[in-house]
Amino acid sequence: MKITFGGHSCFCIEDEGHKLIIDPFLTGNPHAVWKPEEIDVQFILVTHGHGDHLGDALEIARRTGATIIAPNELALYCSSKGANIHPMHIGGSRQFPFGKVKLTPALHGSAIEEGLIYTGNPCGFLLFMNEKVIYHAGDTGLCSDMKLIGEYTPVDLALLPIGDNFVMGIEDAVEAAKFVKAKQVVPMHYNTFDLIKQDPLDFKKRLNGIAACAILQPGEYVENI
Ligand code: NI
Ligand code: MN
Repeated sequence: MKITFGGHSCFCIEDEGHKLIIDPFLTGNPHAVWKPEEIDVQFILVTHGHGDHLGDALEIARRTGATIIAPNELALYCSSKGANIHPMHIGGSRQFPFGKVKLTPALHGSAIEEGLIYTGNPCGFLLFMNEKVIYHAGDTGLCSDMKLIGEYTPVDLALLPIGDNFVMGIEDAVEAAKFVKAKQVVPMHYNTFDLIKQDPLDFKKRLNGIAACAILQPGEYVENI
C-alpha cells in the first residue's frame, strides 16, 4: 500500500487494484504536483466543504465516474452537481471494495464558501485497508474524542494538521498524536499559504519519539506502514 502526499491535506492511497484520493485540492494549491485531469481513482473521500478540501473533487468525479464518500449534506451537494456519491455520517462505518471507512468527529466548520452553502458537519476518516489503519484527521482542533480512537483502534498512520489558525497548531498536534497512539504520523495542512506557515521539523522534534514522523513533500510517499 502506497500513501502519497498531494500537498495540503490531499493524499492518494493505492494498493493492487484500488486507488482513492482524499481532499483533492489541486487547482489553486501552489504546491500541487498533480493536475486534476491526471487523477484516475475509484473513490474520492472529502472531509468537508471548504475549497481547500472539496477542491477538484466534483470535476474528477464527473470525469472518472468515481464515487464521492463524504458526510451526508456535503455528499448531497456533490450529487446535485452531478457526482456519484456515497453519503455517510460521523460514527458510521461501511465496507467498500478497497476496505472499510469510518467517519470520525472533527471540530471545524463545513460550507461551500462561495454563496456560503452549509454542508453539515466536517469529519475525519479512519481507513481500514490491507490490515492497516490510517487516520486522516481532516481539519480539526484537538479534541478529546481522539482519545477514543487511540483506545479502541490501533492506528498505524495518522495524518494530522499542524498549520494553526484554522486547525491544530504544532503543540496540539503533538497531543493529538499522543491521544491517537499512532505508530507513525505525517503532518499536513501547513505552508500552503502564509497564514498556516509552520516548521514541520519542529513538530518532528517535539514528538520526541512518541511516534515516528515522516515529513513528506508533495509527490513523496510512505509505504509498508
Ligand atoms: Ni476547512
Ligand atoms: Mn482547510
